[in-house]
Amino acid sequence: MKKLGMRHDALAGLAAALLASACVSTVAMSEPFGFGTTPTDQEIAAINIDVMPDGRGYPPGSGSVAQGEKVYADKCAACHGADMTESVKGSGADTLIGGRGSIGTEKTKKTVESYWPYASTLFDYVKRAMPFNEPGSLTNDEVYAVSAYILNKAKIIDANATMNAETMSKVEMPNKDGFIPDPRPDIHNYR
Ligand code: HEC
Repeated sequence: MKKLGMRHDALAGLAAALLASACVSTVAMSEPFGFGTTPTDQEIAAINIDVMPDGRGYPPGSGSVAQGEKVYADKCAACHGADMTESVKGSGADTLIGGRGSIGTEKTKKTVESYWPYASTLFDYVKRAMPFNEPGSLTNDEVYAVSAYILNKAKIIDANATMNAETMSKVEMPNKDGFIPDPRPDIHNYR
């Protein structure tokens, strides 16, 4: 009898302990986690990149093809290859030029030159994501310059071109008509 009583007490104690810990974790879940800080306006501005095909969102600055050649050699060629036509094996990087007209054929080669419909995507992507090992480290002038160099290597702009907000938004990409608008009916539910 005595033995049973003890066991009973022990079980009751365990149940109480479990209940208490359940309560504690419920409270903890509804509180802030206690790490991280509120971002400053400057920190938000650094990643608030939203460049549109019609020219909205480009930051001030400019860069020439010649300047871009140097940026590319220093900060991109290690992965994307010296002449852009073949990325470096094992780097995971995409090939940037070539393949024009190949999309939709049996030998599709997807590159910035063959696939991307707007130059704004090039600027926006490089600005936010490249170089892969140090994203966000390029100045706006460097992004304009290296975009100019890539567009020149892709035979889309002249070697003496300088890119800025205005000239970038006037670039006509080879595959600009390769996309069709596809407004699925359900998107209207989210407007
Ligand atoms: C350390 C290697 C590395 C370096 C250096 C690097 N990249 Fe990349 N790049 C990548 C990888 C990996 C991807 C694919 C990323 C993905 O798909 O998420 C990529 C993708 C890209 C793309 C998209 C291509 C496509 O068709 O989708 C562009 C444009 C690009 N890089 C430009 C640049 C430029 C410009 C520089 C230099 C300022 C640069 N990269 C430096 C590794 C690198």
